[in-house]
This record gives sequence, structure tokens and C-alpha cells, in this order.
Amino acid sequence: MTLEIEATGQACGARIRGVDLTRPLAAELVAGIRAAWLEHHVLVFPDQPIDDDDLERVTRYFGPFGDDPFLAPIAGRRHVAAIRRDADETTPIFAEAWHTDWSFQATPPAGTCLRSVVLPPRGGDTLFANQHAALDAMPADLRARLEGLQAIHSARLPYAPTGAYGDADQARGRSMDIRPSEAALAEQRHPLLRAHPETGRPGIFGAIGYIVGLEGLDDADAIPLLKELLAWQTRDAFVYRHVWEPDMLVMWDNRSVLHAATGGYEGHARLLHRTTIGER
Ligand code: SIN
Repeated sequence: MTLEIEATGQACGARIRGVDLTRPLAAELVAGIRAAWLEHHVLVFPDQPIDDDDLERVTRYFGPFGDDPFLAPIAGRRHVAAIRRDADETTPIFAEAWHTDWSFQATPPAGTCLRSVVLPPRGGDTLFANQHAALDAMPADLRARLEGLQAIHSARLPYAPTGAYGDADQARGRSMDIRPSEAALAEQRHPLLRAHPETGRPGIFGAIGYIVGLEGLDDADAIPLLKELLAWQTRDAFVYRHVWEPDMLVMWDNRSVLHAATGGYEGHARLLHRTTIGER
């Protein structure tokens, strides 16, 4: 089989054909997929009727499993989480704020894999924003205000007991198995502008939300700057809108893109199974 790589024509992303993810992959093919992943940042594999064994095997081609705090794995698996919303659910859409996965960790995960299980008839797209393109095109005056800054990351706004997915949210009847905890109060610093650990390409790492402040700046200065930055990071010019199909796997590079879930499927269920790829 020959790997076929077709760029989406949007700010990032490519569709990959010529590979059967239900079967073991040769090292050469994995290397080709990894190269495409580093170039396009989001890979979309259509027509792949994979199960969770396949999802775990494919994940492991690209690194160790990442550590997933605050989300309980599905029954019988240690590394697969369900991104779930029931048809009658009225809780806020999970992960609708722009973010890069678990950026509050000391070594955040390299990537994430998400496979479609149940899809609504419309809506529920996932947005990806290319953070290399956003930095490349950034006006010099904004960039000058960001150079050298260390961002303070924390999971406290979503996952602390008082957070968006905390005790009050649990009481609303969210179907996802989220485990808020005081551990979410921890902080971790990462450079706001940094080289991609594998390609060296400069980019913006993280977004307000998991980023709760900037070292050396008062919140009165940091928060407006982070909001201004988010507006730049997520301009349409840098965004790929991913529309899900049955039997589809998507694998993205958390070091290169922000992502965000979207709604628009009220009255319908949506279920995806997710793994994270740790740094090698
Ligand atoms: C996620 O951030 O892992 C979920 C994305 C989605 O539901 O589209």
C-alpha cells in the first residue's frame, strides 16, 4: 500500500489514505505517517472501522500513552476516555474552549487520537488552529510583547472542584466521567513562544484557559494580553474545521495546534474515544 496524503487546503490538516489501521503497520509506514503528522499537524483517516484495541495499537506507534488526569477511562481500558454527550444532555459542550491537551503538565502530551463511535447527523465539528502559522503571521508589535514570556498553566478553571467541570457541573448530570480534584490547583510554567520539540519550528504554545497568567505580569496586564493573543491565535485564517464521518480517526499534534469542540447537535448523541500520545 502507498500512503496517500491530501492536504485539507485549510490552515492545517491532511486526509490519509493507503493505510489499513485495523492491521499492524510496518515501521516504514509509521515513519511516513509521522512525517505527515509533523508537516500537517492534524491527520484524518477516513474509512477506518477500528475498535479500541486498534486505537491503542495505533497510539503506541507514535509514543507512550500520555497520562490522562481528571477523565476516567472507559470500563476495561486504562488509556481510552469517552468524549460523550447524550441526546438529552443540557450541560455545556465539553472542551468548547480553545486549548491544547493537558498543557498544565510538566511534559504535556505530544498528541491526541480521537475516533468516531456515535455521530450526530450534523454539528459537533472539531476546530484546529495552527499555532505555527499564527506566530509566523503575527504583527511585530504583538510578538514583541510576548517574546520571552513564561506562561503559567493550570487545570484549575475546568477541573478544580469549584471549576467549570467541578461539583456543580457533576450535579447537572454530565454523562462524561470527569473527576474534578484539588490536584487541578497545581501550576506549571512553559514558554509562551517556543520551538516545537521535534521539528524546531517556532509556535505559540497554549491558550488562556489552561494558561492562567504570565510570569512577572499582574493579572490586570496578563489577562487582557492573553485574550488579545487568543483572538489572534484563532483567526479564521489559521483554522481547520474538521467535519466528522463514521469510522474516522483523527490524530493531532498538541505541540502545533489548539483545538476546540463545537455544539450544534442538540437532541442527538455524540461519542468519540480518545487516547493521548506522550512525548517519546
Ligand atoms: C477534545 O478536546 O478532546 C474533544 C474534541 C471534540 O469533542 O471535538
